[in-house]
Amino acid sequence: MRVNQPVITQVETLLPKDQFIYSRTDLKGIIVEANQAFADISAYTREEMIGQPHNLVRHPDMPPQAFEDMWRDLKAGRPWRGLVKNRRKDGGFYWVVANASPVRENGKIVGYRWLSIRAHFPRTT
Ligand SMILES: Cc1cc2nc3c(=O)[nH]c(=O)nc-3n(C[C@H](O)[C@H](O)[C@H](O)COP(=O)(O)O)c2cc1C
Repeated sequence: MRVNQPVITQVETLLPKDQFIYSRTDLKGIIVEANQAFADISAYTREEMIGQPHNLVRHPDMPPQAFEDMWRDLKAGRPWRGLVKNRRKDGGFYWVVANASPVRENGKIVGYRWLSIRAHFPRTT
C-alpha cells in the first residue's frame, strides 16, 4: 500500500514575520471583521469567515480549558493572552501568540477583538 507523506494535518504554515492577524467578533464570538492576513493563513476567503463562529479555525489539539480561560477573562472585561494553534481549511495548522480584548462602546462591552502574531516552535529533531 502506498502511504503518501506528509499527512496534511502535520503541515505547518508560518504567518509572515511582518504580518498580524486581526479579527473582531460580536458578544457570541461570531466573526464580524477579519483582515486579509487572517484569511490567507487560514486558507479561507474573508467572505467565508465573516458571519461564522470563531471556532471555525479551532484545532482539535487545543485544550477546551484554554478557551474557557479566555472567555472568563473577556467576559470579566479583562484582556487575555495565549498561544493558540489554529486549523486551516485544508487541514494544516499555524500557531499564534494571541491577544484578545473586549471592545467597549460607552463603557459597555459590545464585542471582542483578537490581534495575533506568529508563534513558531522550531523542531529540534
Ligand atoms: C475575538 C475572538 C477571537 C477568537 N479567535 C479564535 C481563534 O483564532 N481560534 C480558536 O480556536 N478560537 C478562537 N476564539 C474562541 C472561539 O470563539 C471558541 O471559543 C473556541 O474556538 C472553542 O470552540 P468550541 O467551544 O466550539 O470548542 C476566539 C474568540 C474571540 C472572542
